[in-house]
Amino acid sequence: MSPANPAQGATRAEPAIVRRQVNLFDLQRQKARLGAEIEVRIDRVLDHGQFILGPEVTALEEDLAAFAGVKHAIAVSSGRDALIMALMAFDVGPGDAVFVPAFTFSATGGSVASVGAAPVFVDVDARTFNMDPASLEAAIERVKRAGKLVPKVVMPVDLYGLPADYAALTKVAHAHGLKMLADAAQSFGGEAGNRRVGAHAPLSATSFYPTKPLGCYGDGGAVLADDDDLAEAVRQIRSHGRAGDGDEALRLGMTGRLDTIQAAVLQVKLAAFEDELAARRRLAAMYDERLKDHVAPPLIPQGCASAYALYTVRVPDRDAVRGRLQEEGVGTGLFYRIPLHHHPAFKPWVDGAEHLPVSEALADDVISLPIHADLTDEELDYVVERFLAAIA
Ligand SMILES: Cc1ncc(COP(=O)(O)O)c(C=O)c1O
Repeated sequence: MSPANPAQGATRAEPAIVRRQVNLFDLQRQKARLGAEIEVRIDRVLDHGQFILGPEVTALEEDLAAFAGVKHAIAVSSGRDALIMALMAFDVGPGDAVFVPAFTFSATGGSVASVGAAPVFVDVDARTFNMDPASLEAAIERVKRAGKLVPKVVMPVDLYGLPADYAALTKVAHAHGLKMLADAAQSFGGEAGNRRVGAHAPLSATSFYPTKPLGCYGDGGAVLADDDDLAEAVRQIRSHGRAGDGDEALRLGMTGRLDTIQAAVLQVKLAAFEDELAARRRLAAMYDERLKDHVAPPLIPQGCASAYALYTVRVPDRDAVRGRLQEEGVGTGLFYRIPLHHHPAFKPWVDGAEHLPVSEALADDVISLPIHADLTDEELDYVVERFLAAIA
C-alpha cells in the first residue's frame, strides 16, 4: 500500500549516497590559487634568459636557507641527485657502507649504489615508520664483524614528512665514527626539537618533485647545510666540480643544478608554504581524531611536527580496502609495497642476514589517504566515511 502522505514515504527512504572523486594529490587546485603569479615569474625568466643559475636560483636558495634555519641551501636537479651530491661531498665511494632504512623509496638506496658504495638495510620503528636505532646498531656491528666494508654514513629517511629520531641515531652513528646524511626528500617543513628539517644532520637532501609538500613543476631538490666547506663542496659538485665561474674542475662533479624556471615556480610556492603546512597539519589532526578508534594514527613524537607529505595508516587486508576505496572514488597510495632488500636492483647488496620484519610487515599493510593543502573538510569527511566502511 502506498503511503497516504507522500512525505511519509520520503522519510523512510535511504539517504542518497553522493559519490565523490577525491584524489590523493590535486595540483590543479594549487595552480588555481598560485598559477597567475607563477606565470608572471616564469615570463620574467624567459625575458632575462639566464636559464642556468639565474637570479631566481640565488634568491630561492636564500629563502630556503632562511625557512629551514640553516646557513646554506644549494638548489639542485632532484632529490636523488641531492643525495648523490651529498654522498660525493662526504667522499663516499666503493668499499664504503651507507646505512639506509629498508622501508623507503628506492632512490634512498639507489643513490648510495650510484656512487659505488654499498647500501646496508636497516629496519624501522613500527610506530613512526622511521629508522630504528637498535636495528642500526646491529647492522653496523654486523658490517664491522664481516670486515668487507668500511661503515661510513648513516642515512635516515624522514618518512611521510616526519623527521627521523636524529638524536638517537646520531648517538649510534658517532659512537662508531660515522657521518649523518638526512634523506629529507619528503620532509621539508618538518620539525624536531624546535629545529626545522635541514638542521638535524650536517647535510640534508630534499626533493621538490611535484607532489612533495613543496614541489616544483618538474624535477628539483636542494641540499641544506650549516658547514661552509661541505656547502661549497656540494656547490662545486653540482656544476662539474668547478668553483664559481672557474674553468678548472677541482673535483669530480655532475650537471646537478636546479633550472631557473623551476626556481621561479618554487619562489611563489615557498611564499605560500607556511599556510599550506598549517592546512596539512589541521587536516591530519582531523584524520587523527576521526580514525583513532579504528586504526592507529601516525605517531608524531613529542616535540616533532610532520610536513605530512602523506597521511599513512596500517590496515589488515590492505589491497581489498584500497580496491573498495577506489570504487568509491577515493584515491589512495601504497608507499611502499616492496622493502628495499626485496627489490631486484638491490640484490648485490643483500647477503641474506637481513632480518627486517617491521619493514616487511609495513610493506603489506600501509595505505596513504588524501592529504594536501586544498583538500576540503567535506572531502575529508567523505574519505573518512568511505574508509571506515571499507575496513568494517
Ligand atoms: C625518501 C625519498 N628519497 C629520495 C627521493 C628522490 O627524490 P626525487 O624524486 O626528487 O629524485 C624520494 C622521492 O620520491 C623519496 O621519497
